[in-house]
Amino acid sequence: MRVAFLGATKGMGRALARLMVERGDTICLLGRSSVDLERSATDLSVRGAADPVPSVVCDLEKPETFAGAVDAAREALGGLDAVIVTAGVFAIQEDLEADPLLAERLVRVNFSNTVVFCEVAKKALLDDGGGTLCVFSSVAGERGRKPVIIYGAAKAGLTHYLEGLDHKHRAEGLRVITVKPGFVKTSMTAGLEPPPFAGEPDAVARRVLGAIDRGAPVVYAPAPWRLIMAVIRALPRAIMRRINF
Ligand SMILES: NC(=O)c1ccc[n+]([C@@H]2O[C@H](COP(=O)([O-])OP(=O)(O)OC[C@H]3O[C@@H](n4cnc5c(N)ncnc54)[C@H](OP(=O)(O)O)[C@@H]3O)[C@@H](O)[C@H]2O)c1
Repeated sequence: MRVAFLGATKGMGRALARLMVERGDTICLLGRSSVDLERSATDLSVRGAADPVPSVVCDLEKPETFAGAVDAAREALGGLDAVIVTAGVFAIQEDLEADPLLAERLVRVNFSNTVVFCEVAKKALLDDGGGTLCVFSSVAGERGRKPVIIYGAAKAGLTHYLEGLDHKHRAEGLRVITVKPGFVKTSMTAGLEPPPFAGEPDAVARRVLGAIDRGAPVVYAPAPWRLIMAVIRALPRAIMRRINF
């Protein structure tokens, strides 16, 4: 596959990009820092990428960079079969409540700007006859929960948007894949107490790659989070008000 990948410099994105080059996919890296992109491109080359790995600056805080970056990736790879978005930001609920500007920035990056980026990516993929748009949302978007009210609201909006895209464009050959990670040990969650069933990036990457290959519209990772969230979705509000999950 020829893949434009936004967010492969760290965490789950880095693990997934490594897995993909190891099996022969070609990747164009998109990210906000040319230094970090260069370092990631070298890392992927060492892991077996066939040709030098191209990279393009694309910042989720700067929508004006989106169209140029997707076009550049398409040109560098000679077309696009997939666009993957793992880029995103996190902050704890207390910090978001204390700082409205931080809250606005998180919602803008994780929701509105990610939607705008996906609109650009969707158009590029459809112009090439379809393909895969795989985007990392979160289990935090499944239900209003005390510890992740604002982050979860942004991810809920993103999940909803991606579901709509899948409904609208599947018949045209666009496969939209929503990844819903539970807690995964990455730089994003460094310093937080890992709950039971916390996952590792490599295992998540293997699960997500399987979903991409199958064209599964939704994937929970690690797997137990599918069941955990089914239970959480079924809990009455009176219980949700009492627990701190
Ligand atoms: N870890 C978890 O427990 C968890 C759970 C549920 C959902 N998720 C979601 O899964 C995705 C991946 O998370 P992760 O844990 O792998 O995170 P991570 O290790 O913090 O990596 C985040 C990636 O996003 C990129 N990024 C951040 N802001 C950006 C911006 N403005 N423009 C472009 N790229 C930007 C980072 O690039 P830089 O190298 O430039 O910083 C990095 O490559 C995120 O969408 C996250 O919300 C994570």
